[in-house]
Amino acid sequence: MGFKTIDYENDKLKIIDQRRLPGKFIIIECNRLKDVYNSIKTLAVRGAPAIGVFAAYGVCVGLKGTKTSDREKFFLHLNKIVEYLKESRPTAVNLFWALDRMKAIACKNKDKSTIQIKKILIKEAKCIHKEDEMMCKAIGINGARLIRSGDKILTHCNAGALATAGSGTALSVIYRAKQEGKRIAVYADETRPLLQGARLTAWELNKRKIDVTLICDNMAGSLMKQGLIDKIVVGADRIAANGDAANKIGTYGLAVLAKEHKIPFYVAAPSSTFDFTLKTGKDIPIEEREPREVRRFAGVDTAPKAIKVRNPAFDVTPSRLITAIITEKSVFKKPYGRSLEKVKG
Ligand code: MRU
Repeated sequence: MGFKTIDYENDKLKIIDQRRLPGKFIIIECNRLKDVYNSIKTLAVRGAPAIGVFAAYGVCVGLKGTKTSDREKFFLHLNKIVEYLKESRPTAVNLFWALDRMKAIACKNKDKSTIQIKKILIKEAKCIHKEDEMMCKAIGINGARLIRSGDKILTHCNAGALATAGSGTALSVIYRAKQEGKRIAVYADETRPLLQGARLTAWELNKRKIDVTLICDNMAGSLMKQGLIDKIVVGADRIAANGDAANKIGTYGLAVLAKEHKIPFYVAAPSSTFDFTLKTGKDIPIEEREPREVRRFAGVDTAPKAIKVRNPAFDVTPSRLITAIITEKSVFKKPYGRSLEKVKG
């Protein structure tokens, strides 16, 4: 991809500070657990799979200074780290999935010395990282089969390399289709209020020389009506057992518009984004972010200071509006029945 969204070498955890893109390309180092927490909370690192990989390394950062050989103390500390990082953001299930996986591998090796357990945890985080890379690649291969040369594809938010440890989910489909020689044009929704589409998707597609056109979110319907959109491909932050999918706020509206205009609406996500403990999307916790993100634009007040604001960061698209879910295992089409459970194994 030409850049590493997350990097862990010689016990140093580094990320691209996505708050500064596209103006500045800055790598920051997260040396303390608090840095890890804040980087997730403030969206220096964001996107469901990337948050999961980063949090896994975050556990290693949190344990770095722990000298104790007392296993009981070690596990108490590990638990605190995991619970603390789980508080950083609520919607992307990959965060909880990765942290639980880290805890589970530590418990499985509870009879080893604390030094050995720390090494095992680093290995596990690297494994989660590598797996994410592979899943992105497989999602690209599976999804590209749905794309025809000449397609004009709309995407929302950023589900690209910046949102994962690999080539992305929704954007991996686009990268792969292009690699296969298909002619693709992309429309990127700017994605208010934090502009992940404008700042990040436009940036990475442009860097990869993909034909990309930026639009404001409220232009999507009009473009669909004019026949300018052939397909919509988005990512997801959490998918319930029935296929309802939470993604960046505005995704649901796009799915409704897609139905009206008979445009295929695809969700691309790895197995780590599925939450089979939730039967439907209605129980997916939706993050409510700070009002000032809506009251201000590019550092300037654009609404009266005291005005009431709602700022849900995600919405849930019901499975009936989703044409298919593209995963690293295969492409799942409705009616799902219990077929989605295949992503588990
Ligand atoms: O608030 P963000 O930027 O973390 O939201 C990200 C998204 O909604 C992405 O579409 C989703 O995480 C999928 S990333 C492959």
